[in-house]
Amino acid sequence: MSKFWSPFVKNLVPYVPGEQPKLTKLVKLNTNENPYGPSPKALEAMRGELGENLRLYPDPNSDLLKQAVARYYGVQTNQVFLGNGSDEVLAHIFHGLFQHDAPLLFPDISYSFYPVYCGLYGIQSAPVALDEQFQIRVEDYQQPNAGIIFPNPNAPTGCLLALEAIEQLLKANTESVVVVDEAYIDFGGETAISLVDRYPNLLVTQTLSKSRSLAGLRVGLAVGHPDLIEALERIKNSFNSYPLDRVAIVGAAAAFEDKAYFEETCNKVIASREKLVAELTGRGFEVLPSAANFIFARHPQKDAAGIAAALREQGVIVRHFKLPRIDQFLRISIGTEEQNQALLDALN
Ligand SMILES: Cc1ncc(COP(=O)(O)O)c(C=O)c1O
Repeated sequence: MSKFWSPFVKNLVPYVPGEQPKLTKLVKLNTNENPYGPSPKALEAMRGELGENLRLYPDPNSDLLKQAVARYYGVQTNQVFLGNGSDEVLAHIFHGLFQHDAPLLFPDISYSFYPVYCGLYGIQSAPVALDEQFQIRVEDYQQPNAGIIFPNPNAPTGCLLALEAIEQLLKANTESVVVVDEAYIDFGGETAISLVDRYPNLLVTQTLSKSRSLAGLRVGLAVGHPDLIEALERIKNSFNSYPLDRVAIVGAAAAFEDKAYFEETCNKVIASREKLVAELTGRGFEVLPSAANFIFARHPQKDAAGIAAALREQGVIVRHFKLPRIDQFLRISIGTEEQNQALLDALN
């Protein structure tokens, strides 16, 4: 703290990201990165961009990438918003669409950046409890609200809400914006982007950090009605005209074009997930049903923080949240077959 800080900064409670250790020999299963690396075509496109052109500012609208996303999902480019990671896209959504005279609703167990953005933008929130099986009950969201947001699959549980349930929620909630944060949707769910033409208050966010293995590039997006997108563009153009650099624009566009690599690597992660779930269940763990590139597991006899610490001593890092209801769970990202085996060996 310093006398130069404004009162606003003194009261901020920032998000704490998962550890990015400097040691390279660790088996890193703590931040839901993709173990397989980006599409070789994306890497080639990015290498091609490294030259004299970096002298010039990038396209402020990232049209090349907007077109690639629009083509991929069969929407118009004015239905697509892009940002520096989906965290930035979410920040603009909170800033531009959730500041109203009612609380924002999100699950009590959910992405821990949501309450941080509420603090940053002065938004009141009301947590909505997941049920006993850690599932979202859409009926519980029928109350006055400034907006609704939830990850699907949810994080850190990995549990998926069916598209029919999302549609039911949208039918019952037409007067505020509903955001479906699909950071992990490609590992087992069906995107709600198919609903945006019918529900003008629906925004779907996605990231290239997980299923397209580009966490280091920082690219995220939102798809929705052009009026919602326009609000986000207004915020973006009042904050940073160039959130995506030249390398990110061409790399992300090439990643969307390389559907074969995307499908192959997602399928590998899904197959490894199912195998790991079976192995952990065999060792007495309870694992929530996951449609993501991570699993959420607890052991009825062993303390979660203790397991996490013991794994760390053996060079395997997983994520433990010291939070109500979930402090006996571990969130474990799906690694390569070798990394998952290293986790099992360490547990043994
Ligand atoms: C649910 C959820 N939403 C959004 C993000 C942000 O992803 P990024 O900013 O890398 O696009 C994450 C990252 O872990 C996440 O778990």
